[in-house]
Amino acid sequence: MAEAPVYLRFEGVVAGYGGGDVLKGVDFDVDEGGVTCIVGPNGSGKSTLLKTVSGLVRPRLGQIWFKGTALVGLSPRQILRLGIVQVPQNHSLFKEMTVDENIDLGAYLVKDKKVIAERKASIHELFPIVAERARDKAGSLSGGQQRLVEFARCLMLEPELVVLDEPSMGLDPKTLRALFKTIKSMNSAGRTVLLVEQNARLALKMSHGGVVLENGKVRLKGTGAEVLNNPEIGALYLGGSIEETKRV
Ligand SMILES: Nc1ncnc2c1ncn2[C@@H]1O[C@H](COP(=O)(O)OP(=O)(O)OP(=O)(O)O)[C@@H](O)[C@H]1O
Ligand SMILES: [Mg+2]
Repeated sequence: MAEAPVYLRFEGVVAGYGGGDVLKGVDFDVDEGGVTCIVGPNGSGKSTLLKTVSGLVRPRLGQIWFKGTALVGLSPRQILRLGIVQVPQNHSLFKEMTVDENIDLGAYLVKDKKVIAERKASIHELFPIVAERARDKAGSLSGGQQRLVEFARCLMLEPELVVLDEPSMGLDPKTLRALFKTIKSMNSAGRTVLLVEQNARLALKMSHGGVVLENGKVRLKGTGAEVLNNPEIGALYLGGSIEETKRV
């Protein structure tokens, strides 16, 4: 029997926006069923990398393989249909529409009303705010609450690969912990997660895989723990090395 293809593979990905390359040859694999976290300084190309997965940025060179299917050249919609859903870094709700209407938009590829209702019920369980504020305009929610609704909306498609760009941005510590818990439970429910996080320590702790991106190149890749415990990376990107943290 042929070996199963790697779940998600970046192979020599070079990409940018016309003014030079932002990604300068990125190679790494994402394992099925795990959480993989990308960290790195501002401007290193993390968001650009995620956009190459969802088809919003088309690599100039290289390939991205999803279970053996080449993603480069597919439209964002085709990629969505493969089960890959991305929550972008910037707020993306329709602020003049209600929370509920925004959630419905997440399911626009789903035609069966019964399926939509079932998914919504489970989302209400996971994110009570979505039920409590269902009739309110999305724009009237706080930034953190809007972030949770964005999350909930992406789950309406029951994605198998969830791509999250800085999900914790703008969240208070309590909401942040709740959000990380949600990511964990999404993952336990069988979804593979690829995320970018500035809250690197916390994110790497719950990640199976870690990647450090620096100036458009992979500086380090390994298990979450390996990246977390790398003294050089700790000093550079994680707010002091592990040794320093232990001393405090
Ligand atoms: N739409 C765009 N058009 C032109 N250049 C862009 C665009 N988006 C990003 N860039 C440039 O690409 C580089 C990488 O940006 P990117 O957003 O991928 O970084 P990042 O690692 O996600 O940073 P941050 O941590 O601040 O979110 C930056 O120099 C940025 O100016
Ligand atoms: Mg970014």
